[in-house]
Amino acid sequence: MDKLAILGGTPVREAPYPSWPVFDDRDVQAVSDVIRSGNWGGYPYPGPQSAQFAFHFAEMQGGGYAVLMANGTVTMEVALRAMNIGWGDEVIIPAYTFQATASAVMQAGAIPVIVDVNFDTYCIDPKAVEAAITHKTKAIIPVHLGAEMADMDAILKIAHLHDLVVVEDCAHAHGARWGRSGAGTLGQFGSFSLQSSKTVTTGEGGILLCQTHELASRVASIIDCGRPHDENGSLFTMGTNYRMTEIQAALGLIALQRFPQQAKQRQTMAAYMDESLSEVPGVRVLKRQPRHTTRSFYQYIFAINPQIFGVKHDAVCLALEKEGIPCDVGYEPMHHYSLFQPKLSKLAVPSAFPQYFNFDMMHFPVAEQAAEAEAVWLDESIFRSDEKGIDDVILALKKLLSHRDELAEMS
Ligand SMILES: Cc1ncc(COP(=O)(O)O)c(C=O)c1O
Repeated sequence: MDKLAILGGTPVREAPYPSWPVFDDRDVQAVSDVIRSGNWGGYPYPGPQSAQFAFHFAEMQGGGYAVLMANGTVTMEVALRAMNIGWGDEVIIPAYTFQATASAVMQAGAIPVIVDVNFDTYCIDPKAVEAAITHKTKAIIPVHLGAEMADMDAILKIAHLHDLVVVEDCAHAHGARWGRSGAGTLGQFGSFSLQSSKTVTTGEGGILLCQTHELASRVASIIDCGRPHDENGSLFTMGTNYRMTEIQAALGLIALQRFPQQAKQRQTMAAYMDESLSEVPGVRVLKRQPRHTTRSFYQYIFAINPQIFGVKHDAVCLALEKEGIPCDVGYEPMHHYSLFQPKLSKLAVPSAFPQYFNFDMMHFPVAEQAAEAEAVWLDESIFRSDEKGIDDVILALKKLLSHRDELAEMS
C-alpha cells in the first residue's frame, strides 16, 4: 500500500464526509418568522415555538414531559434540584464521560462519586454503582455513551432497591430506544444536549424529559426564575433563567423533521461498520446490548489494541485524520480530566468535601484504558455517508496496520 498520508503519502479518502449541521431554506424561513413575530426570547415560558418543540421532542422520544433549557448541562443540575438533591448528597456518575456530567452535580451542590465503566460498552458499570452506594447516595447519572446505552435494566433495579433518582444523560442518544422505551424516558429524567455537534441541534440548547407532569412543572419553575408553573400557581422555589429562546426552538422543530431519516441512515451504516470492523485485526467492536433496540447515536466508539497497532489511540487517530477519516480520542477519564480541576478552583463542593476529590488515589482501570490507550471515536458524519464512506475507514485502518513499524517509529 501507498505511504502513510501522515508521512506524505496519498490519503485513502480525499472527498470530505457530509458536513454538519444540515440546513436549508426551511431553517432560514423558521428563524425569519420568529424574528418578524418580535417574540425572540424564552419569556414568557413556553412561547409558541417552545411549546411545539417540547411536545414533538417528547413524542419522538416516546414519552415524558419536555422542558427546554439553555444547554444539556443545566438540564442535569435542574433535575437534581427538582428532586431536592443538593448540599452533601452523593450522586454516582461514570468515569468516562464529558465533564458536564460531574460539573452539573456540583452546580446543584452535590458530590459527584465517580465509578468505573463496563469493558464491553464503556457505559457505567452497574456493579460499580452498587459498590459505591452509601447512606448519602441520592441519584445515579448513567450516560448513554457514543453509540451504546447503559444497562438500564440493571440501573433501574438498583435505583428501585435503594430508592435513588435516575437522571439519564442522553446527550448522545437522541432517538435511541431500550426495549420499547426511548432513552430518557426510563429514569425520572432524561437530559439531552442540542449543542451544535449533537444529532438534534439548535446551536446551543438542552431538553429535560421529565417522567411526570408534576416534575415538569417543578423543573419549569426552576428554569423560569421561580415563576409558578404548577396548577395552583404557587411559587415553587428560588429559580434562575435557564430558558431556551424561541429562535432556537424554531430551529429545533425543523431539525426534528430531518432527524428520522438521518437517524435511520446512521443506524444502517453503524451496522455495516460493526460488520466491517469485526474483520480488522487489533480492533474490538463494542458490544451492543440486546435490549438496545434502536441505535440512534452521536459518535461511534471502538477500541484498538495498541500492541497490534504498535501505537496507542492518539497516534492512530492522528494518522487516520491524515488519511481523511474524521475521528478523535474522546474524553479523558474523569479523575484525570484537565477540564475538571476541583483542586485548582474555589468551587464550593470540592472546597467543602475535599475527601471526595483525592484523584491521585482513584483508579478506574476500564475508563483509564479506554481514555488513555484504546478508544477511537469516529465522527458522526461518516455514518451519514454511504458504504464507501465506511469502506474507507476500514481501508485506512488496514493501511495503518500494514505500516505498523513506521507508525511505531513516529511516536
Ligand atoms: C455526555 C455529555 N453530557 C453532557 C453534555 C453537555 O451538553 P451541553 O454542551 O449542551 O451543555 C455533553 C456535551 O457535549 C455530553 O457529551
